[in-house]
Amino acid sequence: MVKNICCIGAGYVGGPTMTVIAAKCPHIKVNVVDINTKRIEAWNHSDVSKIPIYEPGLSDLVQQARGRNLFFSTEVDQAIKEADMIFISVNTPTKTYGVGKGMAADLKYIELCARQIADVAEDDKIIVEKSTLPVRTAEALKNILDNTSKDVKFQILSNPEFLAEGTAVQDLLNPDRVLIGGEQTEEGRMAQKALVDVYANWVPSDRILTTNVWSSELSKLTANAFLAQRVSSINALSELCEKTEADVNEVARAIGTDSRIGSKFLKASVGFGGSCFQKDILNLVYISRSYGLQEVADYWEQVIIMNDHQKRRFASNIVKTLYNTVSGKKIAMLGWAFKKDTNDTRESASIYVADDLLNEQAEIVVYDPKVTAEQIYADLDYLNTRSSEENRKGVTVVNDPMECFDQAHAIAIMTEWDEFKDYDWKSIYNKMLKPAFLFDGRMILDHDKMEDIGFKMYTIGKG
Ligand code: NAD
Ligand code: UDX
Repeated sequence: MVKNICCIGAGYVGGPTMTVIAAKCPHIKVNVVDINTKRIEAWNHSDVSKIPIYEPGLSDLVQQARGRNLFFSTEVDQAIKEADMIFISVNTPTKTYGVGKGMAADLKYIELCARQIADVAEDDKIIVEKSTLPVRTAEALKNILDNTSKDVKFQILSNPEFLAEGTAVQDLLNPDRVLIGGEQTEEGRMAQKALVDVYANWVPSDRILTTNVWSSELSKLTANAFLAQRVSSINALSELCEKTEADVNEVARAIGTDSRIGSKFLKASVGFGGSCFQKDILNLVYISRSYGLQEVADYWEQVIIMNDHQKRRFASNIVKTLYNTVSGKKIAMLGWAFKKDTNDTRESASIYVADDLLNEQAEIVVYDPKVTAEQIYADLDYLNTRSSEENRKGVTVVNDPMECFDQAHAIAIMTEWDEFKDYDWKSIYNKMLKPAFLFDGRMILDHDKMEDIGFKMYTIGKG
């Protein structure tokens, strides 16, 4: 029975996942380790509301388990040595250099972990791939781990994580399924059983699926590709709705009631963001191309092409509507996170829309309830479109949303934060220059009501 778990990587997946394991398995000691000292300090902050990741319900669980059987530290070697089971939950971003640049997953962090485990481990370990990895990565890990001169045996399991940010705690407490891929040998099956037993502390057994390693690795990429494909499909239809006086919400409602289609993931938007969808589809495209499967690769790549188009057309629609120029015009952007209830901004559509508007010399004011100014500037600087001084000159970040609207020409809703729905839109309208333009990239406001107030309203997908 597993008594000691180490998780390498204290990020959006490692942090919440290990917190839930620790909360549900008080008999297991869980050490979450990371090389990022600042992040670990934040996980250990005495004020639990200061932990580095915002997720509804997470700080309460951390409070409950931290110091009892949940520990955050930078002592990676020590945690590896102590553990029976090691989760690898490090980042696997898209490569920014060399072969596969812009498409393939960068596995250098994964490989470093494997080498460190191989170096340090003194007894047998079960290694769990929690990070999302290209199919057949476990083979590379095994090669590294099996080539130590020590008499230590490793079993590698694939246990991809399906949580979505913003609902991570609920998704972890009540998952649709847990997937565990293992080698189809007796040792492989024993390792699989050890991990099944961990989850069985709170997940019903019919929701714990076991399979071989390759199916498990590929299922994760496939799940994200299917979900993102639905968003790109509805976003493609949103543009057609705008031309035909159809309403994409009505179309989504009509098709979503077909039980074969289902109602989830049919919300048209300013484009999907997040650290996973684009990265994982690009990875799928790259893998397909490397096997010579051109049509398969092109098919999935179109999901990304559609998403880029959706972001770009939102920005260009703002420019067109504001009489073909936003130069010197104040545009209030509400929301910077890639979705509500998270402070994560990776690949958020806001970044690209702001970048396009800055190219047109707009003056942007941003408000997001959970994202810091430092993060917003870092996101823009990362694009390298202009100097960081120019980004700071073009973008102001405010902590009070009511500071956004004075003399603004337009408002763009970028993230579907609930609080935006409850604002006093009449008094916001009064503060703005007229005509007051409102671009709802998330379909969260009542279009007709806003027009009654006087706004010139654009809602994604509404003709
Ligand atoms: P993240 O960037 O938030 O966290 C990764 C952490 O790993 C960082 O804190 C980094 O410092 C640490 N790290 C990197 N190399 C290390 C090393 N050698 N030793 C110790 N620590 C190291 O990333 P994330 O969002 O948690 O994603 C992790 C993995 O999970 C990725 O493969 C991702 O695709 C996958 N995933 C993410 C989500 C999500 O919603 N974010 C959901 C499912 C799966
Ligand atoms: C996704 C997967 O859902 C999750 O299972 C996987 O483990 C990690 O990747 P995440 O990126 O955290 O999770 O959030 P998700 O809810 O999937 O949203 C991704 C993006 O799609 C967001 O920008 C969201 O706003 C957008 N989206 C989602 C839409 O535009 N419309 C929808 O109907 C659903």
